[in-house]
Amino acid sequence: MSKITVYPDKDSLISGAADFIAGAAVQAIEARGRFTLALSGGHTPRPVYARLATPGYRERLDWSKVQVFFGDERCVPPDDPQSNYLMVKTALFDEVPLPEANIHRIRGEDDPEQAASYYAQELQRTFGGEAAAGGSPMEGFDLILLGMGDNGHTASLFPGLPAVTETMRWVMAQYVEVVCMWRLTLTPVVINAARQVAFLVAGAPKAEMVHKVLEGPYQPVVLPSQIIKPTQGELHWLLDEPAAAQLRRTS
Ligand code: 6PG
Repeated sequence: MSKITVYPDKDSLISGAADFIAGAAVQAIEARGRFTLALSGGHTPRPVYARLATPGYRERLDWSKVQVFFGDERCVPPDDPQSNYLMVKTALFDEVPLPEANIHRIRGEDDPEQAASYYAQELQRTFGGEAAAGGSPMEGFDLILLGMGDNGHTASLFPGLPAVTETMRWVMAQYVEVVCMWRLTLTPVVINAARQVAFLVAGAPKAEMVHKVLEGPYQPVVLPSQIIKPTQGELHWLLDEPAAAQLRRTS
C-alpha cells in the first residue's frame, strides 16, 4: 500500500520533498554508514535539488557518506541541455561538498548498450549481486526518487516498451519513439528492491494520470508507474493539491 502525502502548493511540496530526502539520508547514515540515492530527471525535482543545496539542508547531510545515482538518462553528452546529469550538477552537485567519486552518472554519450552494461556493473560494485545473472541486487537503494510523465511513464519506463516488464536486467537502453531518442533506465528489478521509493508529482495536468495510476485498473504496460511496487520497501507519493485533485484516497 503506498503512502500518499498531499501538500497545499508547489512550494510546500518542494520543502516536504527536501525534508523527506534529508531525513532518509540521516537515518540511513546512522543505520548503515552511507546513504544510497537515485535521482529523477525532468523538471519537477530540480527545485528540490536546489533546496537541498541551501544552508538549512546542506549542513544536515554528511555528503561524504552520500552515494548518488540516476534512475534514468537521455542518451546525450553530460554537457547537453537535455542531460539529467547536467540538470542535477547545476542545481546540486556544484553547490554541496559531495565527493566526485560519490557521483555515479549514466554515460549518456556512450553507445547505449555499452552504457547500460557499464552502469549495471557500477550498481553491482555498490550493491552486490550478479547483474549479469539477473535477479535482484544484494542490497537495495535507500531511496529512489521518481517522477511521472503525462502518459504515466516513470524513469524511462515508457508505455509498451520491454523495460517495463523486465525481470532480469538491471539497466536497459531503449529507443523511445515518443521522445525521438535513446534512453537508459533502471528497470523494476532494481527499483522494486529499494528500501524506499518516492514519486514526486506536481500540477493539475498530472491529476488524471495520478488518479488512473493509483486508483485505476492495474495495466502497467499502459501505465508503467504502476509497475513500481517495492518488494519489501515503502512506496511514497508526494503530491501537491492540484496533482491530487482527482484522488479518492489522499493518505
Ligand atoms: C526524465 C525523467 C522522467 C520524468 C518524467 C516527469 O528523464 O525525463 O526521469 O521520468 O520524471 O518525464 O517529468 P517532469 O517532472 O518534467 O514532468
